[in-house]
Amino acid sequence: MRRVGFAKAGRVLAGLALATILGGAADRPAPLDVEHWRKAFARPDHAPTPPGNPASPDKVALGAKLFDDTRLSGSGDVACATCHQADLSFSDGIDRHPGLDGQPLERRTPPLWNLAWALSFFWDGRAESLETQAIEPIENTREMAGDLDRSLQALSADPQMRKAFASAFPEDPAVSRANMAKALAAFQRTLVSPETRFDRWVKGDDAALEPDEIAGLSLFVGKAACVACHKGWRFTDDAFHDIGLPGDDKGRGPILGIAAADHAFKTPSLRERVWSAPYMHDGSLASFEDVVDHYADRVIRRPTLSADLPQHLDLSATERAQLVAFLNTLSSNDPPRPASIPPKAMAFGTDAEVVATSTVSQKDRRFTPGAVVLTVGEALRILNDDIRVHNVRVDGPDKSFNSDAQNPGDTVTIGFDRAGHYDVICGIHPEMRLSVNVESAQKEK
Ligand code: HEC
Ligand code: HEC
Repeated sequence: MRRVGFAKAGRVLAGLALATILGGAADRPAPLDVEHWRKAFARPDHAPTPPGNPASPDKVALGAKLFDDTRLSGSGDVACATCHQADLSFSDGIDRHPGLDGQPLERRTPPLWNLAWALSFFWDGRAESLETQAIEPIENTREMAGDLDRSLQALSADPQMRKAFASAFPEDPAVSRANMAKALAAFQRTLVSPETRFDRWVKGDDAALEPDEIAGLSLFVGKAACVACHKGWRFTDDAFHDIGLPGDDKGRGPILGIAAADHAFKTPSLRERVWSAPYMHDGSLASFEDVVDHYADRVIRRPTLSADLPQHLDLSATERAQLVAFLNTLSSNDPPRPASIPPKAMAFGTDAEVVATSTVSQKDRRFTPGAVVLTVGEALRILNDDIRVHNVRVDGPDKSFNSDAQNPGDTVTIGFDRAGHYDVICGIHPEMRLSVNVESAQKEK
């Protein structure tokens, strides 16, 4: 709690300082294309749910109970909520939480807002869904050191829990590992960050933001180029980047076995971050001021550095304060409570226009076209005409393909010898999605 009070006091002080600095009209940023950015940052109407785990109020209620339940841990005194605290944006206010051995964990506890839209989980993206993610902290010897079978036994000995599982999973009421994971995932998908002052501006209320906050937004989407990675209403591209922080943690690289992805971590959402200091995967930066100073002054230039960072970023004291003022508008004034937003079952890559071509471009971190149709036996050529290293992957039940590091200029060729639907992604930029329909040659006309 102490930390939160501190963060808020800092915010008021920053506001006062800005008012003084802004007396002059120096450093006026380029005019903002208001209509464009209002569209780009608009909030969605629905929260996606995977077809295999539809949401229901009972399932969410069970997940919320489990999230707070210390019986999930081996020691019996650690719950998910011990580290993911509701009043701290589901983080814990410290750089790295002590593990059960008393030593700090490797990484900071990330806030859990808006994970319904996330494409991968953990700082290094090693989990593919909230369902697969949920079990890991329980079994992790340093986090909860749980013996899942024992936890499940303890829960099934509790008549109230048995009842809660039965209402959440009427078709299959078992107090099982799979149901526990599904309930925890369904609960976490309801953690949608609420609207803030920034959203009022997005909806058309010009007066919702102060002039210095608008100036910060102009920098964010303009000169400072933050929006290259912190994009959309969640302010993340769901991709992995090396932003030049010191430290030995290799992040995404070892997960993919690709050195070009060393030091790359998942771009965090910037929603409700006032409540979740300190920042970064290692909790090494205490405040938004420190974060902005990092991008302006302290980026370590190394071969793995993200091509999406500006080559050079010169920010005056006023501009830094304006960026911080803007970041503050993405957080609530009081400890945020989840917004209520209806769930909707969503499938992968359904909205791209299907094109009959066998050659796909990757320029600007996008597969173009986003959906192709091929005939069995035809090969798909994916050309890296981008400035970034990519990692083309197909992880399907019928086909598995991994290009390893695909450098700019490299072409990857994938053969398809069976009809079906395949999803192609990039392991470093999982927001890149290509849907491939392979039709059999003797298809009836
Ligand atoms: C001891 C502290 C601790 C406990 C207890 C804990 N977590 Fe975490 N959680 C972490 C840390 C640290 C990470 C980041 C680990 C990493 O990225 O390598 C994390 C990551 C996550 C993520 C990934 C978020 C993202 O942005 O990708 C989710 C989801 C999550 N935890 C949910 C849970 C759930 C559900 C439980 C209970 C079953 C739980 N956590 C228990 C500390 C904890
Ligand atoms: C190249 C992509 C990229 C750009 C450009 C970028 N960021 Fe980030 N940002 C990231 C990644 C990745 C992280 C997490 C890095 C880590 O923990 O190692 C991050 C972390 C942050 C965090 C900490 C969030 C948290 O919860 O820990 C803030 C705040 C932030 N960025 C703000 C900004 C601002 C402001 C700018 C523009 C000056 C900016 N970013 C530019 C990718 C980017």
